[in-house]
Amino acid sequence: MIEADRLTKYYDKHTAIRDVSFKVEKGTVVGFLGPNGAGKTTTMRILTGCLPPSSGTARVAGYDVLTDSLQVRRRIGYLPENVPLYTDMKVADYLAFVAEVKGLERGRRRQRIGEIMEKCGVAKVRRTLIGALSRGYRQRVGIAQALLNDPEVLILDEPTIGLDPRQIIEIRQLIKELAGQSTVILSTHILPEVSMLCHQVIIINNGQIVAVDTPENLTTGLQRSTKLRIRVEGPVDQIGIALTQLPGVLRVVTEDEAHLSAGDAQAGETAQSFIVESERNCDLRREASRLIVERGWGLLELRAADMSLEEIFVRLVTKEAQEAQA
Ligand SMILES: Nc1ncnc2c1ncn2[C@@H]1O[C@H](COP(=O)(O)OP(=O)(O)O)[C@@H](O)[C@H]1O
Ligand SMILES: [Mg+2]
Repeated sequence: MIEADRLTKYYDKHTAIRDVSFKVEKGTVVGFLGPNGAGKTTTMRILTGCLPPSSGTARVAGYDVLTDSLQVRRRIGYLPENVPLYTDMKVADYLAFVAEVKGLERGRRRQRIGEIMEKCGVAKVRRTLIGALSRGYRQRVGIAQALLNDPEVLILDEPTIGLDPRQIIEIRQLIKELAGQSTVILSTHILPEVSMLCHQVIIINNGQIVAVDTPENLTTGLQRSTKLRIRVEGPVDQIGIALTQLPGVLRVVTEDEAHLSAGDAQAGETAQSFIVESERNCDLRREASRLIVERGWGLLELRAADMSLEEIFVRLVTKEAQEAQA
């Protein structure tokens, strides 16, 4: 449905994105994940045909975004980062205006606008001035205008930014409902959003793609190490050294004292938590527990502490940054 091939965009001498390539299959929800300035908006604007790339090509529903931008625009619904909503228009009037601009058949407009307002939950504010709406409702109106032409591809640039927690949940729910009907690309810098909504994640940083995978594979497959959290009672230094010497261990760090729970403090224990990072697929639970018991220390807790998607993201992004500096 969407194919980007080595998209590159310069703003003067500044490279906003470089060699961005990816494919999106029909019906999938793809999360474009990256920190601010990563190049998400630039890539999305190129896909909508609003912004010509400096080099590279992109096709949406088989049409080239540069040479066939009219066909592309017909098939796309776009929620820009800053929705240019007309604050002195009523919701229904604004949607009627967009329907006209988008060239919807006159006879179908009324019905379509009614359907979309229902779907996006703005029917009850149809006669309210956009300027008087909360941010969450404005975002709904923005999504409604993107959906008017019944697009095959929906491009949502940071759809939940600036919303309060309740509004965020509502907008995510709306996106989930839309997911079955269109191919959706949404950008975000919020990780849980990606695991909640997306089948596929494209991580972009410094204008380059650093990973493309499912949220599940990113959390498991990309892990370069396995982590154990072990809580032990005994001489901290000796325990640390002994753990480091176990086969396959990459590093051992102690968790902050602040993490001591109230229960431990009451019992007067001198317990310390260690995070033992070992080579990938290296299960140290048996060796670690045997070691601790043999030395006569107290094993209070031992559990796998695998990396969250967040840690993987940070790692991918900082690794990139370090390589760029080197
Ligand atoms: N119109 C512009 N002129 C110059 N530089 C821009 C412009 N738009 C974006 N940039 C730069 O391009 C890079 C990517 O920006 P953007 O695509 O907006 O990232 P994101 O949406 O991921 O935050 C940033 O370094 C940004 O400063
Ligand atoms: Mg952006």
